[in-house]
Amino acid sequence: MDETAARKIMVRCEILAGISEEAGCLTRPFLCDAMRRATGEVADWMREAGMTVRQDNIGNLIGRYEADRSPARTLILGSHLDTVRDAGKYDGPLGVLVALAAVEHLHERDERLPFAVEVMAFADEEGMRYHTAYLGSKVVAGTFDPAYLYLTDAAGIPMGEAIRASGGDPDALASDKRASNDLLGYCEVHIEQGPVLEAHNLPVGVVTAIAGQSRIEVRFMGQAGHAGTVPMSGRRDALAAAAEFVLAVEAHARAQAGMVATVGQIGVQPGASNVVPGLATLSLDVRHSDDEVREQACRQLYEQALRISSARGVTLGWQVLQETPAAACAPALSNLLTRAIASLGYPTYHLPSGAGHDAVTMADLTSMAMLFVRCRGGVSHNPAESVTQADVGVALAVLRQFLTMLAGAEHSLA
Ligand code: HGY
Ligand code: MN
Ligand code: MN
Repeated sequence: MDETAARKIMVRCEILAGISEEAGCLTRPFLCDAMRRATGEVADWMREAGMTVRQDNIGNLIGRYEADRSPARTLILGSHLDTVRDAGKYDGPLGVLVALAAVEHLHERDERLPFAVEVMAFADEEGMRYHTAYLGSKVVAGTFDPAYLYLTDAAGIPMGEAIRASGGDPDALASDKRASNDLLGYCEVHIEQGPVLEAHNLPVGVVTAIAGQSRIEVRFMGQAGHAGTVPMSGRRDALAAAAEFVLAVEAHARAQAGMVATVGQIGVQPGASNVVPGLATLSLDVRHSDDEVREQACRQLYEQALRISSARGVTLGWQVLQETPAAACAPALSNLLTRAIASLGYPTYHLPSGAGHDAVTMADLTSMAMLFVRCRGGVSHNPAESVTQADVGVALAVLRQFLTMLAGAEHSLA
């Protein structure tokens, strides 16, 4: 175990955790100034690790470590640098920094592999600014929808304008798509964001598949009115309708095995204590490992929202923002991860991911695999998110071993 390298990763996670748009907590949305500063730090570390560095038009940072030959295919490693609001330190950055440390190890020994290694720090995985996730990896995979460019953030700034203001060309995003035949695959190290590895007392695990997710904006449009004079019988209270829907979402997901559904955001207008709410806008996040089950649940929740709306005399708005199908991890790469873990003497364990990751998007482009790292209590999307240096050391050792084994098996990977 390389304690020095693991320590360096933990120190760098702390440095990045101090780069935030909000004082007192870690919040680093797509193309904000904090993302610019964090990307600059990681770019310096990539150069120190012997990589050439570039940024694409959406803002992904890409460090490249050349192969021992040319032409050569490329293995992509990485994760995302953006965060949710009031985030933990490790969701995203840990995957970037473990990948960077694995390349640094090669550089320190002046070692080259029969394939190039690229470390990608994706610009937007969480989708916090424009409510559509995976913007960075979608550009790399060629699945970015140009209609996204017209989405506006809370300040009314269209995405295209934000990209241009950051130095990117929104009209050139298609040129940043990678060619599949250049690639060996994509491997992402990420905290589990769940309690399973901790419950089994395991430092790492191999991901089998990533659940599909639907992101929907739901609006209940009623009638604002005076809280003191509008009788209860005559109200068209948008927030009361929304509240009934939120509980219906929870009940629906509880009744469906393997399903999670969440209303994470709710906005109320006009938002005064003495005004009956006229408009309630909610985010709806529905996930399941089986796409058909998820799609059926979304249809049923839509029907439920319609029933609630008509019973309360309010109008329903239902906009599907993004659908991401479930993605299976590639057996060949996953088996190599499993063998790398076993070769180091650790128990091997396989588990699905309920959380979404850039790996879901990269699966549209190339073979993908994921290595999960135990996190305390499974807590994530929360400043209490925590990993141990020892487990980070195990993840780094596994990734190094994975690269070595891949170098020996590269020709057998289609
Ligand atoms: O929402 C997710 O699952 C991921 O954290 N973006
Ligand atoms: Mn993440
Ligand atoms: Mn996340």
